[in-house]
Amino acid sequence: MDSSIHGFRNLPVQERRRIIKEFSGLSDDDIASMDYRMTVDEASNMIENVFTVMDFPVGIATNFIINGKPYLIPMSIEEPSVVAACSNAAKFARPDGFYAESSASVMRGEIELYNIKEPEKAVIAILHNQDKILEMANTRSKTLKSMNAGAKSLEIRFVNNEIIVNMLIDVMDAMGANIINTMLEYVSPYIEEITGAKSNLRIMSNLTTERITRAYAKFDGKKLGEDVVNRIIMANEFAKGDIYRATTHNKGIMNGIDAVLLATMNDFRAQEANYHAYASINGYKPLTEYRKDANGDLIGSIILPVAVGTVGGSTKTSSKAMLSMKIMGVKTSNEFANILASVGLAQNFAALRALADEGIQKGHMKLHARNIAIAAGAKGDNVEKIAGELIKSGSISYSSAVEMVKKYGE
Ligand code: MEV
Repeated sequence: MDSSIHGFRNLPVQERRRIIKEFSGLSDDDIASMDYRMTVDEASNMIENVFTVMDFPVGIATNFIINGKPYLIPMSIEEPSVVAACSNAAKFARPDGFYAESSASVMRGEIELYNIKEPEKAVIAILHNQDKILEMANTRSKTLKSMNAGAKSLEIRFVNNEIIVNMLIDVMDAMGANIINTMLEYVSPYIEEITGAKSNLRIMSNLTTERITRAYAKFDGKKLGEDVVNRIIMANEFAKGDIYRATTHNKGIMNGIDAVLLATMNDFRAQEANYHAYASINGYKPLTEYRKDANGDLIGSIILPVAVGTVGGSTKTSSKAMLSMKIMGVKTSNEFANILASVGLAQNFAALRALADEGIQKGHMKLHARNIAIAAGAKGDNVEKIAGELIKSGSISYSSAVEMVKKYGE
């Protein structure tokens, strides 16, 4: 089934669910789980001092094709326009859609060594015992070991007067935090013993320069028009030269990626820290790149250190998160990373297209007016009607919406 669903946004919720069910081969139980709400008791098992549960809307981005496979992508976000803009961008990338590829899932853990009496001897001792240290680390995960993954190599760096031992670990389909920290804590007493140093921090790094995803798309130049294509390229160059713009540019990318991370209950803070650090390796830069091809189409690309897992983590403890993964039909962490990078590129393209063309406020205010109409009690067809009247009146306020609901009825 294709992910381009005409008029999806205007369908009643039950009809949207029916389409998602058909598209992703969901069960009746899956559909029933869409109405499930986490109780305060369940929430209390997740974090401390719980007193209520937060509600975030979850929408579906349509039109995506990634590496030839159509996707419906769940996005959870409080900001209007994001889901619609993402879906619209994916439409511009058709018929080919997005191409994306991810590297092996190599992560980095760090052991901080201090109190080093003879640094040269300490370094030689670590290098000399490298195989043994890696072997010890790999006893912590039978699964990774059986797949010929796990701890692969060590790197040594000096920071201030300390030796930092980095362990590079292929975590396969996991995000990796737990296994990395377990391995580091397990080998550190041995490293202390052979170096005579003391260890302080033993923790994974959230900057994952060895776990990289690339996504590309060709956006229809004829539909965009030559002027908009040129303006988008100009906007990207602007971000390269101006950190104030680059920050907002990358924020737009995260609008899309964070929304998918939230819908799948992933640690979005880890990805935020990762991508912004990566963007700043050579001075803070935009994470996307654009150029025009010989046919006048716009070629967009994004390079990101995406470190997400499909095994372990809280994704597996939330039925809604599992449902989101099922809707996307994600099988591996690389496939998931490919989706995230493609969504990031789509979201950035959507923002730049709107900014380089009509500006974002028009679309934004339209959606804002709809939300206000709904908040004032408008239902069904009256939502559009009252939103339209609010925009026409130039006063998109709750009180005006209440007046209009009185006038036109709910
Ligand atoms: C708003 O949430 C995001 C944008 O500001 C991103 C951008 O300016 O590129 C529209």
